[in-house]
Amino acid sequence: MQGDREAGGRRRRQIGRAPAITRRSSSLKNRYSLGSMEGSAPPWGPYETPFEALGGEDRIRSIVDRFYDIIDSDAPTLRSLLPRDDSVSRDKLSAYLVEWSGGPALYTPERGHPKLRMRHLPFAIGADEVEVWLACFGEALDDNDVDGPVREFLDERITTLAHQMQNQP
Ligand code: HEM
Repeated sequence: MQGDREAGGRRRRQIGRAPAITRRSSSLKNRYSLGSMEGSAPPWGPYETPFEALGGEDRIRSIVDRFYDIIDSDAPTLRSLLPRDDSVSRDKLSAYLVEWSGGPALYTPERGHPKLRMRHLPFAIGADEVEVWLACFGEALDDNDVDGPVREFLDERITTLAHQMQNQP
């Protein structure tokens, strides 16, 4: 699926070429190029990338911090999966989302190919965990006033991505 970089064809990496993730960001832009779709905006609104529609890195960090704060206070089952000190978890999710949304490549150069499903396999993620994760994320978006087209875009893509992490009934 487009939201996850495990999608076929993106595994190939060649020395001297831009990292997969950067190519993907530009393909996001190309796919929804304003120039080629005169008069119509991409699904996230009149911005080059969802990253810009969201307002950049600080806003994404604020969403992620709120997300983990909500997990801390309201989602003990998810909290129990995370390390006691969740600061690195916060950094990783922020970096991932910045890059995924078309911003600077903060994740891949540091941590390699996201392979998100594989990285989630050590954790028991069932339908309940997916539902709670999405509820916490949605609340974090609400609390950061993320609305309009970019909100619809995120709701759709992040929901699909979250369901791909399910590895238990
Ligand atoms: C569906 C329910 C999900 C659960 C229960 C879950 C849980 C977890 C847990 C327990 C970790 C490991 C702790 C950590 O290193 O932070 C983790 C890591 C991570 N998750 Fe999730 N996650 C879910 C969905 C998602 C989704 C939808 C995304 C992307 C939008 C995501 C992105 C990440 C990233 C980027 C990491 C760090 C991977 C790494 O570099 O080690 N997760 N997740």
